[in-house]
Amino acid sequence: MEIISNPLPDEIKKAAQALKDGHLVAFPTETVYGLGADATNEKAVSRVYSVKARPTDHPLIVHITSINQLDKWAIDIPEYARKLAKEFWPGPMTLILKRSEIAQDFITGGQENVGVRVPSHPVALALLSEFEKLGGLGVAAPSANRFGAVSPTNPKAVNEEIGMYLTQKDLILDGRKSLIGIESTIINCVNKAPIILRPGAITTEMVVGVKVFNSYSSVVSTRVRTSGSYESHYAPNTEVLFGVEPETGDGFIALASMPTPTGVIRLASPEDNEQYARDLYEALRDGDRKKVKRIIIAQPPGSGIAVAIRDRISRAAHR
Ligand code: TXA
Ligand code: MG
Repeated sequence: MEIISNPLPDEIKKAAQALKDGHLVAFPTETVYGLGADATNEKAVSRVYSVKARPTDHPLIVHITSINQLDKWAIDIPEYARKLAKEFWPGPMTLILKRSEIAQDFITGGQENVGVRVPSHPVALALLSEFEKLGGLGVAAPSANRFGAVSPTNPKAVNEEIGMYLTQKDLILDGRKSLIGIESTIINCVNKAPIILRPGAITTEMVVGVKVFNSYSSVVSTRVRTSGSYESHYAPNTEVLFGVEPETGDGFIALASMPTPTGVIRLASPEDNEQYARDLYEALRDGDRKKVKRIIIAQPPGSGIAVAIRDRISRAAHR
């Protein structure tokens, strides 16, 4: 496996060809790094599952170049879903829609719905459009971590997570640190109104702001299978706790306004909630690397992206 830093157009073309040939390409997105495979190639997709050690009934998100590709993957798309796509794509939002026949069982985990997203990271968009030029329809990409572990937000973290499971022909594209740092908002769009299944940087307030429905419900559904909705997920090896005081030898993650008690190892001091999201996963990894006793987290208060941050923290803390 080769890590390509600051990939040039020619190298991105090479990566698109690798995807077309059935190899895996880990690539940057604005949320977290994804482990990409040709979404129509069953063999390539099955390698994604084995590299991640992920159960095969957990569906994958298909990444496409633009809203123009949406009708290839989905049918019966409600008007409100198109409005959300127009408003927030490219960006950190995944729509769950009724699948077309292109979205086969090995992508949807046997469900009748498919998850679709247009990422905004320039390297991701360039890779997707080169792949499309080669006749590709979409790139299936879960977060590039082992199942249940913390999503990688930089190429080094990708390599630590899955580098040893990749082959010589697989690639990792380096697009620097992910700007958002937590996974996309997942919105179920198969009913009369949208339902947020996983909170993210596209917040409830933003979705409501699009004003496309009379009634809006934001509930975490258990009817649809999302591995992120397992209670324990996004977890480092070290024990994670919130709502307790850190003690000597503990790692500590909190907004910069909170001081570090003596003997405590500060893992992150974000100035605001956006930076909190951006730094959270790397801080959790750092806790593992530094072998701190426990990782103590002070949750960010308030609405907006803080909701998604608290969601990830409580999953990381669940054992
Ligand atoms: O930000 C992101 O969404 C990143 C980047 C790489 O795009 N991807 C990501 O993928 O987080 P993954 O596989 O780690 O998490 C996607 C979640 C999973 O919990 C999966 O079960 C759910 O989305 N999902 C995918 N397709 C679905 C479907 N058809 N119905 C319900 N849930 C689905
Ligand atoms: Mg994941």
